[in-house]
Amino acid sequence: MKNTRTIGVLTSGGDAPGMNACIRAVTRAAINEGWTVQGIYRGYEGLMDGEIRELTTESVSNMIQRGGTFLKTARSKDFMTEEGRQKAYENLVKFGIDALIVIGGNGSLAGAEALAAEHDIPVIGLPGTIDNDLYGTDVTIGYDTALNTIVECVDKIRDTATSHNRIFFVEVMGRDAGFLAQNSAIAAGAEAAIIPEDKTDIDQLSNFIGRGIRKSKNSSIVLVSEKDGGAMHYAERVRKEYPQYDVRVSILGYLQRGGSPTARDRILASRLGVASIEALKEGQRNVMIGLRQDEIVYVPISRAIKLDKPIDRELINVLTVLSI
Ligand code: F6P
Repeated sequence: MKNTRTIGVLTSGGDAPGMNACIRAVTRAAINEGWTVQGIYRGYEGLMDGEIRELTTESVSNMIQRGGTFLKTARSKDFMTEEGRQKAYENLVKFGIDALIVIGGNGSLAGAEALAAEHDIPVIGLPGTIDNDLYGTDVTIGYDTALNTIVECVDKIRDTATSHNRIFFVEVMGRDAGFLAQNSAIAAGAEAAIIPEDKTDIDQLSNFIGRGIRKSKNSSIVLVSEKDGGAMHYAERVRKEYPQYDVRVSILGYLQRGGSPTARDRILASRLGVASIEALKEGQRNVMIGLRQDEIVYVPISRAIKLDKPIDRELINVLTVLSI
């Protein structure tokens, strides 16, 4: 006999392409078990305000290809307080929700962990962020789409960079992580990437200039992570320290978060969504569902948010070798 349950699902933090595909998967997999699904709007804000409505199979129709999140999202300050989480818990009880699925990044999963530590509610985290910075999963929902968007943009920037013999610093998102910058640099055939994880004695700019790239090529593209002043910082330094170069900056900004998810992100979102219901059936709580070497894994949320996810040094080497 099937156990009847009511689960809540929300998206929180920065939206990421594939979040809709994930809500769809969670909803349909739960309904398949005979469970009820409550959609919580505007992330933790909506949970505290009771902005909660039932989702049906039809509510998630025609969603898999849409970017953003139809449940909407927020970065909630109030939920960071104990009073905020108490209010949220009261609404979970009021709506009869006996497990919560949170789709989001680091901050969102930290919120889920805090809620679960104070109240008796099983939470399951699903990694949804373009930054790919969650420990315990090889990939996060939205990362592949953002990566492809960046590569498409850099391909266009290269046309103007070569026409003018310029150095372009292209700034990409990623918060404290360099996955987007490093991998888009490889995929777009850029000359270098400046990422937070690659801190060495020789700074990355001098390293790049020192390699004499401009001697053998007439233009260069450098992908720069947004951290520590991002592209502007390095462009200013070139203007001061290497005034012989003609330098320009392009900050890709929020367009990296938009657009229809790639097939890879849709499949990832669908797999993780279905796995979240399986996890609840198994009695799992306070875990993030991840994908490692193409296998579904459960990672304690505390580890996923606290441990650093390292960048593979091999990727740094590949870019260096190929950018001669
Ligand atoms: O975490 C996703 C992300 O897009 C980061 O890459 C970026 O630093 C941040 O969100 C921007 O946040 P906001 O949408 O609050 O400006």
